[in-house]
Amino acid sequence: MRHLVSLTQYLVEQQRGKGKISGELRLLLEVVARACKRISLAVSKGALADVLGEAGTNNVQGEAQKKLDVIANETLLEANEWGGHLAAMASEEMEGVYSIPNRYPRGEHLLLFDPLDGSSNIDVNVSIGTIFSVLKMPEGVSEPTEAHFLQPGSRQLAAGYAVYGPSTLLVLTVGDGVAKFTLDRETGSWTKTADHVRIPHKTSEYAINASNARHWEPPVRRYIDELVAGAQGPLGKNYNMRWVASMVSDVHRILTRGGIFMYPRDNRDPGKAGRLRLMYEANPMAFLIEQAGGAATNGVQRMLDVQPTKLHERVAVFLGSKEEVERVTSYHQS
Ligand code: F6P
Repeated sequence: MRHLVSLTQYLVEQQRGKGKISGELRLLLEVVARACKRISLAVSKGALADVLGEAGTNNVQGEAQKKLDVIANETLLEANEWGGHLAAMASEEMEGVYSIPNRYPRGEHLLLFDPLDGSSNIDVNVSIGTIFSVLKMPEGVSEPTEAHFLQPGSRQLAAGYAVYGPSTLLVLTVGDGVAKFTLDRETGSWTKTADHVRIPHKTSEYAINASNARHWEPPVRRYIDELVAGAQGPLGKNYNMRWVASMVSDVHRILTRGGIFMYPRDNRDPGKAGRLRLMYEANPMAFLIEQAGGAATNGVQRMLDVQPTKLHERVAVFLGSKEEVERVTSYHQS
């Protein structure tokens, strides 16, 4: 019989066998996975459960919220607030820090999440996902504030995402490589279906929203011109482009078969350092990508070394196969 490893067994091994995570972090990750299961169920019911369409509200970024954005956010808050593993949570959908209510015990971790990434794809039945990241609360702090979340990505204890696609997958790192778990929708259990995921160093696939080309800065223009020039250009080979417009799905493809994902800053609004959020999107993905042997930068600096200055900070993102990320980063540096 095929020996199947469940998410629980994997986490117990990370705790007891490898000493990589504490018991508290193990339980926290199990709760996050359970919440993702609930979100997956809502996503898969779609119109049958009346979860499609606009919620009629705006989030902290001024973006119109979808019903599923709100449902996913509430599901994660409710699932995680009572377990005693957390001091506070922060969500891309909420302005400030969510402190654990006084009626529940508090733990030593901070949880950040983008409850439903790729919202523009919800109503068209294209893969979307949940991204999360876990930090440790600084020692000796009793009342968590935004300042306690502002830690560089290199301090993440765990990060991952769930992708709600033809299968529901959970992709996770606790700093011991990257493992993928597939949800059995009949039994409700997560089973490990890949471990020690590795991204090939070289690639010939890239992902960028090319409709923004006229706004890009010179290093990005130069790089994309070279990719588009293909075998006749300086890179001497043909490249293919893929753009799902759900970061989770684009990153998942790269973790599965290589590639480079880019969301550069551009010159539309010089006050914005990019479109994606450092703490909810870029940092967790950068941790996963590095753990799989790839690279992630903001164009000039390793992503995981960027010191956040605010919770909802935006950042330029270049991540994926090492050779290509290093190439586009070197164009920024020169
Ligand atoms: O941050 C949200 C997000 O939906 C990402 O998942 C995705 O990569 C990006 O925005 C898509 O943006 P665009 O509208 O430029 O395609």
